[in-house]
Amino acid sequence: MIRIAIDGPSGSGKSTLAKAVARELGIIYVDTGALYRTVGYFAYANGKDPHNASEVETLLPNISIELKYENGLQRVILNGEDLGDKIRMPQMSMYASAVSSIPAVREFLLEMQKRMARENSVVMDGRDIGTVIIPDADLKIFLTASNETRANRRTLELQSKGICISFEEVLNDMIERDKQDKNRDIAPAIPADDAIIFDNSAMSVEDSVKEIVRLVNERK
Ligand code: DC
Repeated sequence: MIRIAIDGPSGSGKSTLAKAVARELGIIYVDTGALYRTVGYFAYANGKDPHNASEVETLLPNISIELKYENGLQRVILNGEDLGDKIRMPQMSMYASAVSSIPAVREFLLEMQKRMARENSVVMDGRDIGTVIIPDADLKIFLTASNETRANRRTLELQSKGICISFEEVLNDMIERDKQDKNRDIAPAIPADDAIIFDNSAMSVEDSVKEIVRLVNERK
């Protein structure tokens, strides 16, 4: 069993790297942001204010989330419906970030994530993987990149999905969301004490993957 935690702010390249590393090692990639996005989506679909803890809490008993893996791709099933790219809409980023600061939401998603890491070799990405979900991970990476690099990547990613959004809008949303994620009381998005801080602003995806795989092999 090998368990790798990759945390970091939005647009730092977590999912691209985590996916590639998982493929290289032949293990599962778990995108935990998708879980918060799913709860955020459900709040949105039910017309709830994502910042209002008691409104969001009343929804939790009606949420059933299942993760499925096919050809290395994760699919999120909410109450039997495959949500696909619905959770990737820019608006869902803010909904996800808002609901993720509610303790009952984190508690609701906790066991599911811990179980995934207990039962499988995984590369898991998120904000609290190294601090809360897999505190004894074999390798912890805290991925960073400059604000401009991150916003640029997010803009291109969204535009490639046909979502029309400007660089400035992405940058402002990103800064706002990072502030919210870093400063919340519960499981803030900060590096674990034993995490390796990895700035990949000036690195190609291939070189970053190679470096992470090298770090994994060093620990085997
Ligand atoms: O990784 P992402 O951008 O899809 O995550 C969406 C939001 O979910 C992010 O702003 C904070 C929250 N999140 C979290 O609090 N803990 C995680 N492990 C993953 C995501």
